[in-house]
Amino acid sequence: MEKLAIKLCMTKDIGVHGNLFGGNMLAWLDEAAATWACSVCKNPNMVTVKIDEMVFQRPVKNGHQVNIYGEVKGIGTSSITMYIEARNVNFYTGEEKTVCSTFFTFVRIDDSGSAIPIDETIRKQYKHLV
Ligand SMILES: CC(C)(COP(=O)(O)OP(=O)(O)OC[C@H]1O[C@@H](n2cnc3c(N)ncnc32)[C@H](O)[C@@H]1OP(=O)(O)O)[C@@H](O)C(=O)NCCC(=O)NCCS
Repeated sequence: MEKLAIKLCMTKDIGVHGNLFGGNMLAWLDEAAATWACSVCKNPNMVTVKIDEMVFQRPVKNGHQVNIYGEVKGIGTSSITMYIEARNVNFYTGEEKTVCSTFFTFVRIDDSGSAIPIDETIRKQYKHLV
């Protein structure tokens, strides 16, 4: 898997139970995954069409480092699907524990917002995953 982003959980990110607010985690993952989808597809016009089920397996607390990883799992004509995983990092040991993971699907759109094909060279590159 490729490392996409490193985040630090700060006071502003905490919800009412003292843990990282789930919506903030989703925003982190969506931003990291969408940026990576644009990079992989060599095009800035990629929108999120689907986020799969997300299970929050362990809490993230104030001051925790979170690493976000991704792997391309499939490509269609205009869509690309990626597995995205967030891991809590122990600053002292570097040990990482999975916090949550899911699959994101992005679609390439044109100026009017309609789906258009991802470049063929890129589709060919990931054809084995289809
Ligand atoms: C993304 C969007 C343009 C797709 O429109 P659409 O009418 O479904 O387009 P199509 O039917 O041509 O499908 C386009 C691709 O999306 C995929 N797709 C559509 N709905 C999907 C779903 N629920 N789950 C997974 N893939 C889906 C299709 O399988 C297709 O992939 P392919 O070309 O690789 O085979 C439209 O749904 C949209 O604008 N959604 C809002 C996006 C958005 O605002 N996101 C949040 C902010 S980034």
